[in-house]
Amino acid sequence: MTNENKVLIFDTTLRDGEQSPGVALNVEEKLEIARALERMNVDIIEAGFPASSPGDLESVTAIAKEIREPVIAGLARAVGGDVDACWEAVKHAERPRIHVFLSTSDIHIMHQLEKDKERVLEMAREMVARAKAYCEDVEFSPMDATRSVPEYLYRMLTEVIDAGATTVNIPDTVGYAMPDEFAQSLRDIQENVPNIDKARLSVHCHNDLGLAVANSVAAIKVGARQIEVCVNGIGERAGNASLEEIVMAIKTRPDFFELTTNVDSRQIHRVSRLVSQLTGMSIQPNKAIVGINAFRHQSGIHQHGVTKMRETYEIIDPQEIGLPKGTNLVLNKNSGRHGLKARLDDLGYEITSAELDHVFVAFKELADKKGEIDDRDLDALVSGERRAIEDIYKLEVLQVSCGNQGEPSATVKVIGPEGQVKETTSTGTGPVDAAYQALNSIVGVPNQLIEYSVNSVTEGIDAQGEVTVRIEAGGRTFVGRAADTDIVVASAKALLNALNRAIAQSPQGKTEEAWANP
Ligand code: KIV
Ligand code: ZN
Repeated sequence: MTNENKVLIFDTTLRDGEQSPGVALNVEEKLEIARALERMNVDIIEAGFPASSPGDLESVTAIAKEIREPVIAGLARAVGGDVDACWEAVKHAERPRIHVFLSTSDIHIMHQLEKDKERVLEMAREMVARAKAYCEDVEFSPMDATRSVPEYLYRMLTEVIDAGATTVNIPDTVGYAMPDEFAQSLRDIQENVPNIDKARLSVHCHNDLGLAVANSVAAIKVGARQIEVCVNGIGERAGNASLEEIVMAIKTRPDFFELTTNVDSRQIHRVSRLVSQLTGMSIQPNKAIVGINAFRHQSGIHQHGVTKMRETYEIIDPQEIGLPKGTNLVLNKNSGRHGLKARLDDLGYEITSAELDHVFVAFKELADKKGEIDDRDLDALVSGERRAIEDIYKLEVLQVSCGNQGEPSATVKVIGPEGQVKETTSTGTGPVDAAYQALNSIVGVPNQLIEYSVNSVTEGIDAQGEVTVRIEAGGRTFVGRAADTDIVVASAKALLNALNRAIAQSPQGKTEEAWANP
């Protein structure tokens, strides 16, 4: 069953990753990530959880229709409706997979499922068999496996393999396991599940104790040949094992693993940035492999060593993860459209001519204000312009008055969907609040601001500020992002972007009335 020398990479960025608090991707964004994952050559993409929402059903279907190379998996609870919905979505794929999960720990069975343990076994058997009737490739996950009674887990695994599961995935759902202990429980599974050789052994580790990668690596050493991961390690709570760390561990230490993956590691940097941009989840600077500091050397001794011979302090050649040679080539106001396009190509952007028109105008405006434009500026520009192209309401004018005397106020002028101009002035606790009051009164989508953050895109006083906002509207979360050298302008554009996305995804694509009468 298993290719002994190959570790399959199962990417769940679009399912578990999308469950990260506050992340909300639309169908086009999910497709863009799926295309990038395909280019990176991951083996399996878990595209979503079709029964969980109409949006998920739509995006898994769209991904299954378009993405040809990887296996496309959908998640399903062990209930008939979920398995059927999952098949409806993944059936379009070249290589579909149904991934059924059901809890096996006493704590979940008693307090969440509230069922008899024999009944739980029966549900798992029945739903794996139902999935198998649709599709040859069926994965089963005993949720909270690492807190389950081992003998019950062995029975469950034996029965689902008999019912047709071709992959059995052992989730450390709550990130509770220790590496040695996890490795031992996988050895025990291989010894105590008599038909285990008929299925591929997989693991899915969460990072609550910061051990998701360590546990996954321990599992690989004892025979797991599918690892479930997310780009940048995003996911529920503290996240999942990070794709880039697992892939680069295997690649960097062939002496230790004697294994390979199919992943093209040169895509890592690009996919990591894309996921960060689209999810609005920034990457901590010291994050292994993809953090901004991962290949920076601060101390004089280290700098001296690396200059003489890179390997003195670098175990990975930065180009192996796709960092361009001579990273951060700088453009300026004299750079032309061709220079910009060439740099965007190098960075891996597939940009349409219409998008380039917008990005070039924004690039020139920025270059006038800030002189040197590096790759991080370009990331912010491209993502901002791509988002803005779809905007229904566009910010035309923002004028604020603020300071330590008098009440802050903001005047905004916005161009609406039919080209109508709307203008108003509001006051607030500060310039951003005043601008938000004004925008909300114009756009008229009832919402609550649940997160606001601003980060500097680059160093220096002339840097762009990138603002990320999350709003809750109509029971859903929408993320807005924008960058500008003026952070009040960036803030206003970010809110407007989130409001635009809320309108685009509201049932009728309308404003106030649609939200009031769903
Ligand atoms: O963490 C978990 O247990 C899961 C399962 C659905 C595999 O995400
Ligand atoms: Zn999970």
